[in-house]
Amino acid sequence: MGIKIVSAGKALPSYSMSNEQMSAFLDTDDEWIYSRTGIKSRYICREETCVSLACRAADRALQNAGVKPEDIGAVIVATTTNDYAFPSVACMIQADLGLPEETVAFDISAACSGFIFALGTAYGYLKNNDLKYALVVGAEKLSRILDHTDRSTCVLFGDGAGAVVISKDDHKHVHKSWSRGNREALNCKGIGTDGARLNMNGRDVFRFATSALRQAIDETLKADGEDISLIDAIVCHQANARIIENVMKKYPGMESRFFINIEQYGNTSSASIPIAIEEMMQSKRITAGMKLLCVGFGAGLTWSGLIVRT
Ligand SMILES: CC(C)(COP(=O)(O)OP(=O)(O)OC[C@H]1O[C@@H](n2cnc3c(N)ncnc32)[C@H](O)[C@@H]1OP(=O)(O)O)[C@@H](O)C(=O)NCCC(=O)NCCS
Repeated sequence: MGIKIVSAGKALPSYSMSNEQMSAFLDTDDEWIYSRTGIKSRYICREETCVSLACRAADRALQNAGVKPEDIGAVIVATTTNDYAFPSVACMIQADLGLPEETVAFDISAACSGFIFALGTAYGYLKNNDLKYALVVGAEKLSRILDHTDRSTCVLFGDGAGAVVISKDDHKHVHKSWSRGNREALNCKGIGTDGARLNMNGRDVFRFATSALRQAIDETLKADGEDISLIDAIVCHQANARIIENVMKKYPGMESRFFINIEQYGNTSSASIPIAIEEMMQSKRITAGMKLLCVGFGAGLTWSGLIVRT
């Protein structure tokens, strides 16, 4: 069996900050940011919390699925910026949406690859515990770990949450993952400790990301045993439009199946893939019966590819 995406939902802070607004307090400009990243603006939490965004996105996904809360057997949230060290965001969603007490609810941490690992974990619960549906969420309030005086990092990231309701289907499950045990390229000390701040070597991460994305696509397809031409959409983690554009050139004729929506969001880490799926479903770029390849990469360094159906 494999995973089928039944529906998606997203939630964003009400406040969006443009590149021009950033250049009012940072030595940067729209031309520099847009030409290197494809980003024009990003959402930043004011009133919202990681939990409130996650609950809203999960609620939308549930409404869009038309699934009853009692039919959700598991809620798994990928996040690295929960408002609390504990309890988990997933527990808060369970209560907020009125899911049954026997719902499996926990968070996982794998930075920007997190949503793919959460999907893979949810697959295990669907299969082994014979659950009907699972909610898989990516939610981040990255603004709380950004140094807003560091122009080389703060312009790149944004806050947001995305969620999907998944069920089992008859297709083969394909999920490949890698980890390199690297702390230097991209890290943040534990939230709550002094100096919890995102640090990054942008060039090293760019180099890693382009090769990791390509490997994840190729090896996941190899494990699937089918050609890339049978994939209807390739949903990559949205870290930088240039990373995705660089990789999509390697697949001539497939460029239009890659999706890029970073322009108005920035990099929302674990939330970027479910936000993209939600947009693609809303715009009918994803419709029922499609085969999607989802690919994530991020701090760790980790990278992962997974095939889902709709
Ligand atoms: C961050 C990134 C856009 C930087 O692009 P780059 O072309 O590599 O730029 P560099 O880091 O070499 O910096 C070039 C210059 O721009 C400057 N610069 C950095 N940020 C700037 C900004 N926001 N505005 C203006 N100038 C900036 C640097 O200080 C440097 O100046 P210098 O040459 O005088 O020292 C790029 O490396 C990248 O996207 N990396 C991947 C990051 C990522 O996706 N992380 C998350 C992965 S999940």
